[in-house]
Amino acid sequence: MSHDHAAVPPTDEQFWEDRYRGSDQVWSGKPNAALVREAAGLTPGAALDLGCGEGADAIWLAAHGWRVTAVDVSPTALRRGASHAAVAGLGDHIDWQRHDLATAFPDGRYDLVSACFLHSRGPLPWRAVLRTASAAVVPGGVLLVVGHRTFPSWHVGQHENVEFPGPDEVLAALALPDREWEVLVKEAYEFAATGPEGQPGTRSDSTLKVRRLAD
Ligand SMILES: C[S@@+](CC[C@H](N)C(=O)[O-])C[C@H]1O[C@@H](n2cnc3c(N)ncnc32)[C@H](O)[C@@H]1O
Repeated sequence: MSHDHAAVPPTDEQFWEDRYRGSDQVWSGKPNAALVREAAGLTPGAALDLGCGEGADAIWLAAHGWRVTAVDVSPTALRRGASHAAVAGLGDHIDWQRHDLATAFPDGRYDLVSACFLHSRGPLPWRAVLRTASAAVVPGGVLLVVGHRTFPSWHVGQHENVEFPGPDEVLAALALPDREWEVLVKEAYEFAATGPEGQPGTRSDSTLKVRRLAD
């Protein structure tokens, strides 16, 4: 599926299907360090991974005892995730679901809802999606939102109109009632990182981790 970026903005599905079909592997296959850091101390239960890509976070969660629902708009990414999970012997622990989160959301409530780098050049309404995500967290459960603050230093090409909200902006967008939620982590940070072709550089990311105290 190809499209003219200049004329009509792509949908999230068009953009991401093009991206995944354009190479055999887009991401490293390793779970996000922030997900590992923030989920490691949680008691495993039901987890929802929003924008799961090729599934590394979902597979890490499943390997650590979680029952995972992994959602993405790209069928190609989901097929890759399911295939990696099968190779890891974790096929039965992850339910791969295709949804365009702009218009649909998986059923159920979860002990952990994770949105790691849920960014798009398409029209993804991230504020509404994250508010819906917060409603899907059970009392005692955690919502984790990890995102870029800027493109990585090695990013070349257009700096298209992608929104990279900071943790304060994400928290404000969630509009969580104070008495029902506690903020566990709210931070922006920069760190040395290596690009896909081994380029040294820096990344600037943020983490918001909130726990639902009550309904
Ligand atoms: C930057 S990638 C991050 C992938 C993975 N979470 C990770 O950290 O490696 C963003 C992911 O969000 C997915 N995505 C973008 N817009 C979406 C939408 N409207 N509905 C569902 N998934 C979407 C993309 O297909 C892509 O896999």
